[in-house]
Amino acid sequence: MADCVELVFFVNGRKIVEKDVDPETTLLHYLRKKLCLTGVKLACGEGGCGACTVMVSRYDHKNKKIIHYTVNACLARLCAMHGLAVTTVEGIGSIKNGLHPIQDRIAKSYGSQCGFCTPGIVMSMYTLIRNNSSPTTEQMETALEGNLCRCTGYRPILEGFKTFSKEYCGLGEKCCKNSTQPCEKMKGDCKDFIPLDSSQDPIFPPELQHSGKFDRESLKFIGERTKWFRPVTLQELLLLKTVYPDARLVVGNTEVGIEMQQKNMHYPVLVCTTNVPNLQRIEQMEHGIGIKVGANVTIARLEHFLKNTVEKFSDHSTRVFTALIEMLRWFAGSQIRNMASVGGNVMTASPISDLNPLFMASRAVLEVASEIRGKRQIVMNEKFFKGYRQTALEPDEVLISVTIPFTCEDEYFYGYKQAHRKDDDIAIVNAGLRVLFENKSNTIADICLCFGGMAPVTVSAKNTCNKLVGRTWDEKLVTDVCQLLLEEIPLPHGSPGGMENFRSSLMLGFFYKFYLTVQIQLQKKLGLNEPKIPQSYRSAVLPYSRGPTQSSQYFKDADDEQPSVDAVGRPIPHESAVKQTTGEAIFVDDMPEYRDELYLSLVVNIPGEKRWGYTYLDEDIFAIDVVSCQGQIIGAVIADTKQHAQRAAKAVEVTYDEEEPILTIKQAIKQHSFYEPNHSIKCGDLTSGFHKASHVLDGEISIGGQEHFYMETQVSLAIPKEDNEIEMFVASQNPAQEQELVAAALGIPSNKVLIRVKRMGGGFGGKELRASLLSLPVAIAANKLQVPVRCMVDRDEDMITFGGRHPFLGQYRVGCSAEGKIIALEVDLYCNAGNSRNSSNGVNDRALFHIDNSYKIPNLHVTAHQCKTNIPSNTAFRGYGAPQSMFVMEAIISEIASSLKIPPEQVRKINFYQEGDHTHYNQELTQLNIRRCWEECEGNSDFHTRRKMVDMFNSENRWRKRGLSIVPTKFGIDFTLLHFNQTSVLVHIYKDGSVLLALGGTEMGQGLYTKMIQVATRVLGVPMSKIHISETSTATVGNAAPTAASSGSDLNGMAVMFACQTLKKRLEPYISAKPKDSWEDWVKAAYFDRVHLSATGFYKTPDIGYSFQTGTGKAYSYFTVGVACSEVEIDCLTGDHQVLRTDIVMDVGKSLNPAIDVGQIEGAFMQGYGLFILEQIKVSPSGCMLTRGPGAYKIPSLGNIPREFNVSLLKESENDRAVYSSKGIGEPPLFLASSIFFAVKDAIQSARSDAGHGSQFCFHSPATPERIRMACKDQFTEMFSDAPEGSYVPWFVNL
Ligand SMILES: Cc1cc2nc3c(=O)[nH]c(=O)nc-3n(C[C@H](O)[C@H](O)[C@H](O)COP(=O)(O)OP(=O)(O)OC[C@H]3O[C@@H](n4cnc5c(N)ncnc54)[C@H](O)[C@@H]3O)c2cc1C
Ligand code: FES
Ligand code: FES
Repeated sequence: MADCVELVFFVNGRKIVEKDVDPETTLLHYLRKKLCLTGVKLACGEGGCGACTVMVSRYDHKNKKIIHYTVNACLARLCAMHGLAVTTVEGIGSIKNGLHPIQDRIAKSYGSQCGFCTPGIVMSMYTLIRNNSSPTTEQMETALEGNLCRCTGYRPILEGFKTFSKEYCGLGEKCCKNSTQPCEKMKGDCKDFIPLDSSQDPIFPPELQHSGKFDRESLKFIGERTKWFRPVTLQELLLLKTVYPDARLVVGNTEVGIEMQQKNMHYPVLVCTTNVPNLQRIEQMEHGIGIKVGANVTIARLEHFLKNTVEKFSDHSTRVFTALIEMLRWFAGSQIRNMASVGGNVMTASPISDLNPLFMASRAVLEVASEIRGKRQIVMNEKFFKGYRQTALEPDEVLISVTIPFTCEDEYFYGYKQAHRKDDDIAIVNAGLRVLFENKSNTIADICLCFGGMAPVTVSAKNTCNKLVGRTWDEKLVTDVCQLLLEEIPLPHGSPGGMENFRSSLMLGFFYKFYLTVQIQLQKKLGLNEPKIPQSYRSAVLPYSRGPTQSSQYFKDADDEQPSVDAVGRPIPHESAVKQTTGEAIFVDDMPEYRDELYLSLVVNIPGEKRWGYTYLDEDIFAIDVVSCQGQIIGAVIADTKQHAQRAAKAVEVTYDEEEPILTIKQAIKQHSFYEPNHSIKCGDLTSGFHKASHVLDGEISIGGQEHFYMETQVSLAIPKEDNEIEMFVASQNPAQEQELVAAALGIPSNKVLIRVKRMGGGFGGKELRASLLSLPVAIAANKLQVPVRCMVDRDEDMITFGGRHPFLGQYRVGCSAEGKIIALEVDLYCNAGNSRNSSNGVNDRALFHIDNSYKIPNLHVTAHQCKTNIPSNTAFRGYGAPQSMFVMEAIISEIASSLKIPPEQVRKINFYQEGDHTHYNQELTQLNIRRCWEECEGNSDFHTRRKMVDMFNSENRWRKRGLSIVPTKFGIDFTLLHFNQTSVLVHIYKDGSVLLALGGTEMGQGLYTKMIQVATRVLGVPMSKIHISETSTATVGNAAPTAASSGSDLNGMAVMFACQTLKKRLEPYISAKPKDSWEDWVKAAYFDRVHLSATGFYKTPDIGYSFQTGTGKAYSYFTVGVACSEVEIDCLTGDHQVLRTDIVMDVGKSLNPAIDVGQIEGAFMQGYGLFILEQIKVSPSGCMLTRGPGAYKIPSLGNIPREFNVSLLKESENDRAVYSSKGIGEPPLFLASSIFFAVKDAIQSARSDAGHGSQFCFHSPATPERIRMACKDQFTEMFSDAPEGSYVPWFVNL
């Protein structure tokens, strides 16, 4: 074969010819580092977030059409791009050449906050619209399933894109958005959008269209460690597999890529099979046997083909195909579905493959071939999988195709899957279930029950099935099958993956659903009346369906009288939104490489240097002698490239003398492992309080931790300069801390350290105190080697090392009246601090202050303990301990309600604070709008009517339940650490009238820069276009507070206002002298008059400062309050859930920018949804972090947004404690997501009551599918018991 050794492909229309290709190079690396197309972002490297999405186009020479599809550039190999055209976000629009309408609409719809996810989202939508200019909303939601955003809460992204959808405007093609004509319907501001004009799209390269030679060329590339072959005939492929039996075949690389990048596996020979025609075919076979699917056929192509096939044939004959379509609907995101192949899925032989249980149950037939022995056929049955990730294929054999059979009339087939998250998640357990009845009867002729996730391989319950042949399909069968399945497929405690009882109950639940589904059809078909299936049981078989999303946002725009130049109060998009949509916004790792720059990779083997810490010097930059948690940094390797540095770091071997770690709060309590001090707050008299209480309850409740999952991981770049200076670009919320710690580590004064922060790809507290973990090694390396050094940690390193939200345990004793009025409460709060104190003291203090949430508790004693454990130190995270302790309070409310048998909302209302009340830390509450928010939310959500509807639904449905809950929040604004409540700004007016603001605060997507420019417009009276913020730097503003504690706008806003007022005052004489002149004229006149046109502004929050010693002083400047009502539906047999509706009313005072504030509310709410429902950190009993990326750790995706999501800002609210009567908003709304948790609990209570169980049960956060399912006790869950603690080693522990 004539090997071509030159890679030819196109990027954004430009032809690239690359001779020197390393097969290990990913497309992402090449685009970013070689072509400097940094709009393509790296956020996970495992295909799980979509930040790296690009469009790949190829010409289908057979069908003569261009095919466009999305691809994860982090997984795609550069070698695989031969003959293809790649389009990146830079290729579709730019600020200079004009935005693409998709970029325009996401920016104008407020769909970009930090912007790190935005280019990937733009490319997913661009590809969809390139294929279909007017998609349905459902198609849009599907196209975006593989894209994560941690900031926005997705709603505005979807709203922006909906403007392209069929449903958006009844005028369809004639809609004004698609033409230059004025809007016929006068529908809002849609005229402002750039119309979609496909003639402006970049064209497909004619060279690729005219010649098919690139597809027909055999390729061979030899890299540093790996050879890559791309054969183009089956003969060539089989020959290669004979010569290299250990060669790894590659199709979509979605599995092999993960093995190479995440699991550190090295394959010397890779053989790419994508261009072998025999493996590409998909066809319907003769004589109704089935369809034959080539091994290379992608999941997307299979889905499309199956959908066409089921339309052509009778329903009964395509039952396997229908089950496959439903299964594929939940298979990964679109980018993976476009790349991943059927053969790759089968041959990976993963125990949680979604296809294998269906193929096995349907008795699919595999065709395999080898050079020496030719072709053979294998029926996929229990013998096919030989062990974990092993199949019956010989090393020199290749899978050619899979034949999937049609079904006959008496045959039924269904597939089931339960994952942690519905969209884009791998299965916990899945199943393919088939039954064949004797002719027109309900007697079983053949049955096959196959399960994934129950053993190291996909299993078939053969013995069970053998015993069922000849039996009648009736109720008795269910009990027998359950027992037989548990005997045949046992899952002992301690099995890999854990969740043993849950997984077993899923197996039974799936069978029960299958039984009912088939029974209902059989009865109809055979006209049977027995057994009677109660109407309410039909809820078990309802397919999961997600209706369209709808939303509303209510806020008051600026008054008509407000001068147009004054931008305060207007819903203005984020000032960087446009750049973020085009990929032109520069993040630290997007900066071009410096000459001689080196790369640093964190490792675990270099002796340490200095100590550092946040308030305590209790951390080592590199661990010395003792390593106190897994993931702790003990060294670093510096090398010429990232690949080399990482390879060297991974090659380091360390030997430890291991000790038993303390990981969990309970273990720490048992072993008295705490950090001091433990603060407490007392008010009233507990003894007399409990004495007066008619009911006293004791209990405990826990809430898990949370990973920040900012899309941009921790990153630092250090450049040594003359005179021992060092300049650093750090993604940090706290430049002043970076400066101070770097100076101390290098032994130089702070004035030699310059920290520059342009923007961050999200922070959420994770970059407030932990960015130094990386910036210190980077600074030390740069200083030592005197060259620039950079490091952006990979997602797994970020999750293993940098800590997250503190898990909490609350142990309480509460006393209340018969009406639910709380009289006395004693609480001990325990946080899991980790291996250093970091911020735990402050987190605990905020927890102490927030235990009351919104309730007056006259006698209260709360103590907070910091558990010292061997996990990475936990740190600041949006809410800073407040959400955890408010959750404890709400759990107590819920327990009181259950025990007194009164609705929880009644308990909440009866305990609400009144205006003028004092908190347990003696702060008087004024301008408190909690009741107003509550009443408005009750009204907006139509709470009382819906309560009745939910109860009605529950009475009619046994296996689906709905729940409704309404929850308030009250959040104190300010740092609890007094000295942080200060900042300064610097404002320059230049001679041309342009204004530069330099803030102490940093921009991480929350819109601080935008709001500050708005504030300046009001004082200076100049439009936003004249005001710019370049970056935040320690050279322009010294000693600034971290941007945190929801105080960024308050502190910086006041300082900007003061600085601008000073300048305005200096300009006043020139303005009054010539009032008709322009701003530029006044500035010039002042300049020539030698007026100082720069000013600083300084603000410190007045009258605050609480002392734990004396119990006096004001803890918070004021409170931001709000209320949310959520309704959910759960599947009692699987633990699945869906949020049907959420209504939020939030008091943000007079918003500086209502669009940004709504964005903060929705974003925080969705992050809280992650905390309370989806996100579960799993750590092995030895302390190894098991959740290291988006594959294992599920943050909310677009599919999770409430189907109806209404947000309104409370009107007529004043706040005389912050700039222009606004309020801090970043953290407060997060807790409102607990309304989803308590709605889930409400739904479970109904399920338990149907099964005869009490409504009081222990239900910890997060409400994962496992917890939901196991709390819905029924005849299936009762088949298991919990193994006593200590009798086995669990797979993971709850921290
Ligand atoms: C983010 C993400 C989400 C995912 N979600 C799901 C999911 O929801 N459900 C699910 O089941 N899987 C999922 N996967 C796993 C993976 O995508 C699938 O297993 C996929 O089908 C693999 O196909 P591929 O073409 O990418 O395989 P590759 O990575 O190219 O190859 C995988 C393996 O198959 C072998 N192989 C490929 N072709 C042949 C052949 N013709 N003959 C012999 N051996 C062959 C290769 O040697 C290799 O060992 C997910 C993966 C990722 C990264
Ligand atoms: S970076 Fe590629 S999917 Fe996350
Ligand atoms: S805007 Fe989506 S991750 Fe920040």
